[in-house]
Amino acid sequence: MSEAKIALGRRLFYDADLSIDGTMACSSCHEQHRGFADGNRTHAGVHGDPGRRNVPGLANVAWRRVLTWGDPRTTTLEAQAAIPLNGMTPVEMGMAEDGRELARRLGRDACYRRMFKAAFPATRGRIDQASVIQALAAFQRTLLSFEAPVDRGEAPAAGAAIFAVKCASCHAGHDYTDDRFHRLRPPSAADRGAGEITGRFEDDGAFRTPSLRNVAVTGPWLHDGSAATLDAALAAHPGSDSADRPALIAFLQALTDRTFLADKRFGYPDDLCRPGSG
Ligand code: HEC
Ligand code: HEC
Repeated sequence: MSEAKIALGRRLFYDADLSIDGTMACSSCHEQHRGFADGNRTHAGVHGDPGRRNVPGLANVAWRRVLTWGDPRTTTLEAQAAIPLNGMTPVEMGMAEDGRELARRLGRDACYRRMFKAAFPATRGRIDQASVIQALAAFQRTLLSFEAPVDRGEAPAAGAAIFAVKCASCHAGHDYTDDRFHRLRPPSAADRGAGEITGRFEDDGAFRTPSLRNVAVTGPWLHDGSAATLDAALAAHPGSDSADRPALIAFLQALTDRTFLADKRFGYPDDLCRPGSG
């Protein structure tokens, strides 16, 4: 994972030329100041196909063993990136899978040609969908968040204590997820979650436990964005006790890493590709 690959991936992440009509970048849905989520329930694709699921944040996404809300087969960032680029249900960025249009566009830009050469010396900078995806993954693996108040031992004690007992079995470890699928509510025909992929009845309505890193800024919440408040997201859990919620929400607010949300290394790369750079 070279510096050159990361710099290239960062530029690609913010580049709307990755969508068929040039209007949508990865960053259109994954906004840094919201922990790389967005503020919408769902986000429509380039042709206006309604989004199906809420945009998740990307903090520490390098550590996820399984990606997306509901697909146990998507286990690498490389496999995931093809979904927004080429996916048909729904169409998001609308690019063809063969990558020819992508290669043609990026290859016109002298700065991209230099950046691909630096990032992929073994292929002398071949520009194709595979290299685009590898660079995007390299950039996303740098999106590390570990400077929230909770990391400094500054989370409110009352909420932390309840969380440890009632939440940490699923929201486990450093990123507050077990990377497993659980059914909190009865399955709905609109989105069967993991059951859609595995075809197993017991997976119907099961979704991957989301990481809670930066959760206070990634709303609305839940796989369908149906929870407009953290209180509603907690109420959607079986057996949720409303008396616990104020303390739990105070704890969740201590998971926001302001440094991460403003880190210039993850932002729009306005310093790249001036004449003579790259
Ligand atoms: C139209 C909005 C949209 C665009 C554009 C978009 N995404 Fe996403 N992204 C989503 C949604 C919605 C999900 C959740 C999908 C699901 O679970 O089925 C997601 C999920 C992800 C995940 C999985 C995160 C996790 O915790 O499981 C990664 C990684 C990701 N996107 C990266 C990218 C990259 C890289 C690009 C650009 C090539 C991109 N996204 C473009 C909306 C978008
Ligand atoms: C049985 C496993 C499990 C337990 C226990 C659990 N959660 Fe969850 N949590 C999940 C799953 C799965 C989702 C996603 C559900 C969905 O989208 O339909 C979720 C979603 C959330 C969300 C929304 C996150 C987002 O990005 O949309 C929050 C906040 C949350 N949980 C907090 C908590 C708190 C606080 C507790 C303890 C009171 C708790 N959870 C207990 C599995 C669990």
